[in-house]
Amino acid sequence: MGKINAVITGIGGFVPSYILDNEEMSRIVDTTDEWIMKRIGVKTRHILKPEEGNGTSFMMTKAVEELLQKTQIDPQTIEAMVCATTTPDYHFPSTASLVIGNLGLQNCYGFDMEAACAGFLYAMEVGAGLIATGRVKRIVVCGGDFMSSMTNYEDRTTCPIFGDGAACVLMEATEEDYGLIDTYFRTDSHYDPLHMAAGGSACPPSHETVDKRMHFVYQEGKEVFKHAVTNMSDAVEIIAKRNNLTNDDIAWLVPHQANIRIETAVAKRINLPESKVMINIDHFANTSGGTLPLCLWEYEPQLKKGDNIIFTAFGGGFTWGASYMKWGYDGDKFSKK
Ligand code: UT7
Repeated sequence: MGKINAVITGIGGFVPSYILDNEEMSRIVDTTDEWIMKRIGVKTRHILKPEEGNGTSFMMTKAVEELLQKTQIDPQTIEAMVCATTTPDYHFPSTASLVIGNLGLQNCYGFDMEAACAGFLYAMEVGAGLIATGRVKRIVVCGGDFMSSMTNYEDRTTCPIFGDGAACVLMEATEEDYGLIDTYFRTDSHYDPLHMAAGGSACPPSHETVDKRMHFVYQEGKEVFKHAVTNMSDAVEIIAKRNNLTNDDIAWLVPHQANIRIETAVAKRINLPESKVMINIDHFANTSGGTLPLCLWEYEPQLKKGDNIIFTAFGGGFTWGASYMKWGYDGDKFSKK
């Protein structure tokens, strides 16, 4: 038996129905549509409201339901699920447990993993690794976050950035030369510029942590911005060079959607035309672990079998990297049905 590759064979996604636009945002904090569009590039973000559903598991369940409906696979043939999220429903049980239970998957085990905004990038590597063992042939990798649950709507420097959403991919074993081919990942320790101070074991929730508003995202934007542009650009260059890919060979760059200026700066630094960069930050904002799969979800009809795709992400930790994937199917096969 030859080398086992892990190829994506389907995508599902979900964003909540409530749309928070910049006009409403400017009534919540002291900001304007003009500032947000110029400095971040977000026009609208989707927000999960209690009347629609609750928790990241709700959004991931919807995304997997769509995946099952599109691909028509037997749900009982899914053997594993990895959920990348920084906003799990609970410390435990895992979000994956809840999604598996919601969908009645009886032959599947699952777990969560957290690598902030690079979570989905890392989760695809984990999924591909499980498949490469030969013990699992069909796995669902989810990425998504309920960012509004930890966004401080009194802090104008962070609240316009984030939105809610989740998406997932089906990864399957193949001996063909498609799928996840190479990754370059790095992690270092930068607590101060990007973190949530309380709620974990180092600082459990208390009246004091609530009073001090320590359960929200804290970000030093400029510092994070610099690291994001440099590290994402370097990672993409390393992965392209290592796989002998010129910019002509690259069909798509799928960058984490943190700020339109970060995405365009990365494209510029590697000389890639912006037409090859997937962008949806304008209408989905930064959904953290959801950004990469939500890009695939939206761009799926444009994807062609054999496309060389480079993913890159950067997030809290810091966590960052890039992956090279050879796409496995013509994306319009689902829209043609
Ligand atoms: O996803 C994980 C990784 N995260 C990222 O990659 C995010 C990286 N950082 C960023 O995207 C940007 O740094 C931000 C969008 C967070 C902020 O943009 P910036 O251009 O770096 O703004 P700044 O924080 O330097 O603030 C510039 C000015 C300040 O006013 P003064 O001091 O110059 O008078 C802020 O008070 O803009 C002001 N400002 C705002 N004005 C209107 C900050 N937020 C707002 C706002 N509306 N929402």
